[in-house]
Amino acid sequence: MRPKSKVLIIAGSDSSGGAGIQADIKTVTSLGCYAMTAITAVTAQNTTGVKSIVAIKPSEVSKQIEFTSKDISPKAIKIGMLHSKQVILAVTKSLKKISTKKVVLDPVMVAKGGTKLINNAAISYIKNKLMKKTLLITPNIPEAEILTKIKIRSKNDMIKAGKNLMVLGAKNVLIKGGHLNSNVMIDIFINKKKTKVFISKKHISKNTHGTGCTLSSAIATYLSCGKDLIKSCELGIKYVNQSIKSNIKLGKGKGPINHLNSITISKRFN
Ligand SMILES: Nc1ncnc2c1ncn2[C@@H]1O[C@H](COP(=O)(O)OP(=O)(O)OP(=O)(O)O)[C@@H](O)[C@H]1O
Ligand SMILES: [Mg+2]
Repeated sequence: MRPKSKVLIIAGSDSSGGAGIQADIKTVTSLGCYAMTAITAVTAQNTTGVKSIVAIKPSEVSKQIEFTSKDISPKAIKIGMLHSKQVILAVTKSLKKISTKKVVLDPVMVAKGGTKLINNAAISYIKNKLMKKTLLITPNIPEAEILTKIKIRSKNDMIKAGKNLMVLGAKNVLIKGGHLNSNVMIDIFINKKKTKVFISKKHISKNTHGTGCTLSSAIATYLSCGKDLIKSCELGIKYVNQSIKSNIKLGKGKGPINHLNSITISKRFN
C-alpha cells in the first residue's frame, strides 16, 4: 500500500522501543502513514528504568525539522519531549518556517513514576510560547496540574483545568485521564465551543509504557489524513485502548503496548 499521508515527529529516542520516537514511528506506520523524525534526545532505557539521557544540540534539532520538511512536507506534526528552554525556542522558531498548521503538542514533563523530567524554565516556555502556537495540547493530569496550578481529582477538575488552559492561550486541549482514580478511562477534549468527554474501558495492566506518546502520534496521524480534531482524538484513544488490551508482555518492568494491533498481515513471509 502507499502511505496515506506524512507526519513529522519531534521527540526523544527510547532505546527500549516502547515510548518516544520509536513508539511514534510504530504508531504512524501502523496507521498507514509515512513517519519522519527530528530527534531531541537519546535515552538509554529499558522497561525497568532510564539509564542515561543525552541531549541533541538545539541547532541540530532545528536542522532536522527544517531540512526534512523542505523536501517532504508533513501534513501534521507531533511534538513530544522537549527537555530545555533552548530546544523549545529552537522548535518554536523552526515551526514558523514550515507551513504545517496541524501541530499536536504532548507536553511531556512527568514520567509515569511521577519524576519531573524538565525544569521550571522549560515549563514556562511551553506554557507561554509553544502551547499558543500548536493546534492541540495533550497534557496528562500531573502536567495539566503543573500548567494550571489546579489540583485534579475528578472529571470536573479536569474540565476546570482544560478551561483554564484555554484562558492561558491554548487553542484545543485533550486532558488525558490515565492518572485519574476511576473505574473507567476518562479523556476530555475542550475548546472555546465544546467540551467532549471520552469514556473508554480501563484495562488492568502494568504494560502501559508509552500510552501518551502513542496517543498524540495517533491523533497527529488521523489529523494528517483529514479527520477533524474530535474524530482524531476519538480514533486515537481507541487505537491506544486496543494496543493496551492486546498486552504483549515484554520486559521485566512496565512493558510496551502493542502498536501492531491495527495491522493484519495477510501474506506469509517467503
Ligand atoms: N489502563 C488503561 N486502560 C485503558 N486506557 C488507558 C489506560 N491507561 C492509560 N490509558 C489511555 O492512554 C492514553 C494516555 O493517557 P495517560 O494519562 O496514560 O498519558 P501519559 O501519562 O502521558 O502517558 P505516558 O506515561 O506514556 O507519558 C489515554 O487515552 C488514556 O485514556
Ligand atoms: Mg506522557
